[in-house]
Amino acid sequence: MRFKKPLDKLLQEAAETGEGTLKRTLGAGNLIALGIGAIIGAGLFVRTAAAAADHAGPSVTLAFILAAVGCGLAGLCYAEFAAMIPIAGSAYTYSYATMGEMVAWIIGWDLVLEYAVGAATVSIAWSEYLNKLLNNFGINIPYQLCHSPFQTSLDGTAHGLINIPALFIIVCLSLVLIRGTQESAALNGIIVIVKVAIVVLFIALGWGFMKPINHTPYIPVNAGEVAFFHGQKSFLDYFANDFGKFGISGIISAAGVVFFAFIGFDAVSTAAQEAKNPKRDMPIGILVSLAICTVLYVLFGHVLTGIANYKEFEAAGKEASVAYTIETYMQSYHWLSLLVTVAILFGFSSVILVMLLGQSRVFFSMSKDGLVPPVFSQVHPKFKTPYKSNLIFLVFVGIFAAFVPGDIVGDMTSIGTLFAFMLVCIGVMILRKSDPNTPRPFRTPWVPFVPVLGAIVCLLMMLGLGEFNWLRLIVWMAIGFVVYFTYSKKHSLIRKGIVVLPHDPQPPMLD
Ligand code: ALA
Repeated sequence: MRFKKPLDKLLQEAAETGEGTLKRTLGAGNLIALGIGAIIGAGLFVRTAAAAADHAGPSVTLAFILAAVGCGLAGLCYAEFAAMIPIAGSAYTYSYATMGEMVAWIIGWDLVLEYAVGAATVSIAWSEYLNKLLNNFGINIPYQLCHSPFQTSLDGTAHGLINIPALFIIVCLSLVLIRGTQESAALNGIIVIVKVAIVVLFIALGWGFMKPINHTPYIPVNAGEVAFFHGQKSFLDYFANDFGKFGISGIISAAGVVFFAFIGFDAVSTAAQEAKNPKRDMPIGILVSLAICTVLYVLFGHVLTGIANYKEFEAAGKEASVAYTIETYMQSYHWLSLLVTVAILFGFSSVILVMLLGQSRVFFSMSKDGLVPPVFSQVHPKFKTPYKSNLIFLVFVGIFAAFVPGDIVGDMTSIGTLFAFMLVCIGVMILRKSDPNTPRPFRTPWVPFVPVLGAIVCLLMMLGLGEFNWLRLIVWMAIGFVVYFTYSKKHSLIRKGIVVLPHDPQPPMLD
């Protein structure tokens, strides 16, 4: 038997409490701004250089296009879910009402990778740029205190111990969340403008500093791949030893890495219930914000790998790569480096805050449903925030931030989120069959073509991330299944016939 939250009750209650009748105030323009604000972050300013250095060289630009196609297709599926169940929530809530507890659990558990591990990734990127900023003032944090124990300095003389700045920003922002905050729309707007402005500025000013030699060849050769294409190597040999190390497969792997830069665009789909005209504005909001970011990302990647050679991002330019590039090759624009660094520190902070908030929201709902312990939904008497949950995640995220390298957490975030997107694509097709009559204010176009292709592109990017990331995903999901079968199944309220409706107190929202 499948345990589902009754959709009709959810919708009825949502209508009674006014949740289903959220003011429809957002037009296409607002949705586009929302999307752009949520997505530009560490993915662009840190993961781009990593993807170029390890997988694709200058053709990281093509990787951005592939990742954007996957996101666009999955986004259209996500929007159908979001518009169908007009209550503020996430993929977890939608799937509980439509596909049942097991799928909801898988998605909820998997979202920890997107939100909590994603927050750790951005905090590590934050630490890199903080170092760069302090260097400008002659302050150097010792290598040991700003790197994970799995990292060694370029000259091999220093080993990381703990990443204190990354831990610091996680502690600060978790405390901000516990205290409760109303991030104003105006502040959000300013951060969006600043983020877009520095990307445009870097592209415009950097364009003249590009050297054609850095772009030659645009797709670095992968000798093993060439041998495979000429029939001189078996597929298994190629897949095990050469896949993802430049060449065509390098673009696929790089797409999995830079996919991180698009995470957050699902924020647009979750605003479906507030859109004035969801049918028209949702696809516009999703696709246009993705398109604008893709154009910016492609140009940014092109300029970055044109100014500095991608191989430098493996060495001296590995950390805070944008600031490194400006300081090394655009010396007349030292002010730009400083400006970019400060803007990035603010921009990253807002991304971390939103991710930590998203995490506590998902576990709050799961806890209300009995799937995780009640401690995750206990609210502070004064601040009305789920402070115990915030503290637990402070420790969890803090451990990743302090002790794990950014590349590893970044790719874990990518693979986890891609997995959730794939499930959403598949879910849309299942629901069209199982619940054909539920009203859908927004329908994914061209079903099953769009969801099937979306799932395939997401799976392709997951494959590009390589066996270690698959192993991490499998271990994480296996831990999840142990928790599900030993705790959640026994405590699930739906199984006891109790339906938890969303009028229970929710943690305060930032928006
Ligand atoms: N897309 C967000 C970033 O790149 C998560 O930081």
